[in-house]
Parts: sequence; structure tokens; C-alpha cells
Amino acid sequence: MTRAHAPGKAILFGEHAVVYGRPAIAVPVPPIQATADVTDLPQAPAGAVFLESEATGTRAWLNALPEDDPLRRITQSTLDRLPAGGRQALSIHITSTIPIASGLGSGAAVSVAIARAVSQHLGQPLTAEAVSTLAFDVERLHHGTPSGIDNTVISYETPVYFVRGQPIEPITVGMSFDVLIGDTGVAAPTAKAVASVRRRWEADRESMETLFDVIGDIVRRARPAVESGHVAALGSLMNENQTVLARMGVSSPELDRLIDAALGAGASGAKLSGGGIGGNMIAVVTPDRARAIITALLEAGATRAFATQVGP
Ligand code: PMV
Repeated sequence: MTRAHAPGKAILFGEHAVVYGRPAIAVPVPPIQATADVTDLPQAPAGAVFLESEATGTRAWLNALPEDDPLRRITQSTLDRLPAGGRQALSIHITSTIPIASGLGSGAAVSVAIARAVSQHLGQPLTAEAVSTLAFDVERLHHGTPSGIDNTVISYETPVYFVRGQPIEPITVGMSFDVLIGDTGVAAPTAKAVASVRRRWEADRESMETLFDVIGDIVRRARPAVESGHVAALGSLMNENQTVLARMGVSSPELDRLIDAALGAGASGAKLSGGGIGGNMIAVVTPDRARAIITALLEAGATRAFATQVGP
């Protein structure tokens, strides 16, 4: 059996504007993971693949799934990258602790875990770059215009300063810092949030481009704060970023409630993370406040709240 993992991810700064060419900063979130187990199925016909995932309720042979099924797509494209040959039948079992449709990169993490496990099992482990490219292709099924930030940060497993279509720029974090993640429990498919921003942009390009520029400027100022782990600076930039995201219409009452709870309990800054409208929020905190803020998030209705560390 071959097992491979892939972490969740959080966008610290720049979601949505990144789809329109501005930079964004994202980090891996190792406490939540997707896992793929690949085993040989000696009884089945050569070349066959059986896929199983509790999260999506999938239990099927690969070629019985619709062609645009994300699990089928990543498995098939990974196999297509590897040398053909009389391959044994395989079984792929996927589990994940990353909530679906919540801005934490669950789709990309499942793709990355499958591409890693299948290629390793067949003795041809793919590079991070190859895995990222395969996962990006699947991201396109989820929404038409993915920036590519999810597959990049999850495949390379490093904080990144990301600009669509440009080579990856890993960020070296000199001093680690704590980020808390609070889940509204409201499922929010990225496609829905991206489409709502697109409608606003089509209705009033000038205003939306101005907001994207403001976010781009926040991201550029945030980079040195991430590199140095400067929590106070990160906090105030997060608050600025959240104000612009709310003006773009991608916050929600549930997100606002959790953000207010975190700030009320002493977070240095907080914002939604990912597509928004529901899903997760993040807060940057000093270690002494972390526990109290997690309690405040749960009391304010978070279905889950946990800490992740960004750092060397
Ligand atoms: O909701 P998530 O985790 O898929 O993040 C989406 C980030 C967006 O900027 C809204 C879209 C994108 O493709 O970058």
C-alpha cells in the first residue's frame, strides 16, 4: 500500500483580486489533510481502478464515473503522465479532514494526494510542479477561472507570494506566527463567490478594479510582515483586507460574527479566507491570546476552530 497526504491551505491576503492578476499570499495548513491510499487489486482486470471516497460518497470503478468527475479526472491524468504498460488494477481510497466548500483547499488537496500516491505507487513520483499542473486542470472543473493559488501552495507545501501565471515565489518566514481558523459551517462553493464578484466587475469595472488595486497594495505591504512574522502589522493589514472584501460583497453575517468575536477576544486582525460568503475566517494572534480566541469563536457559533502555525 502507498499512502500520500496533502495539507489544506489558507489565503492570508489577496483572494478574489488574485483572479484579476493581483498578488496573493497563501500558506499550507498542515493540521488538516487529505490522504490517498493506493493498493494493488490482483483479482481485478489489469489497468482497472476502483475509487472510494466517503466525503463525496464515491464508490465506483473509474470508467463508470462521469468524465468531469474530479476524482476520475485527477486519477486519469496522473496515469496518463506515467509510462503505460501492463499495470495491475488499483484501488484508491481517499479520506480528508479538510471541510468541503469552505475555502481551505479541499478539492486541490484531494487532487494532490491522489497524484502523489498513484505516481509513488507506480514507482514514478511526480515533481511538485507536475502535481500542481495536474491539480490545476481539475480546479478548472470547480470554477472556470481558478487563479491556481490552491494547487500551487498545496503542491509545494510552502508559503507563497502568488501572481497568476507567474513562476512560484516561495516566502521564507523568519519568525513563526499563529493563525486561528474558524469555520462558519456554511458551505460556500468557490464558484458561487467567484461568479458573484465577476457579476459586480461586469456591472462596474472601474470600481472593482480600484478595489482589486487596494487589495494588491495590501498584499505587497503584507509580504515583509509575513517574512518577519510581525503579528501586529499582519493584523492591521488583515483588517484592511477584510474591509475591502466586505465592500466586494463576499463577507456574510456568519463570517462577520466570527471576525468580531476574534477581534473582541484580542486577535491582532481577522478576515474571511478563500471564496467567502460562508466557509472559514482566519485570525492572526499572539500565543497568549490563542486559547481565549478559540473559545470566543466557538461561543460565536463556529462549528470548528483550530490553530495552525506559519513558520520555518
Ligand atoms: O475558496 P477557495 O479555497 O477555493 O479559494 C478561492 C480563492 C479565490 O481567489 C476566490 C479564487 C481563486 O481561484 O483564486
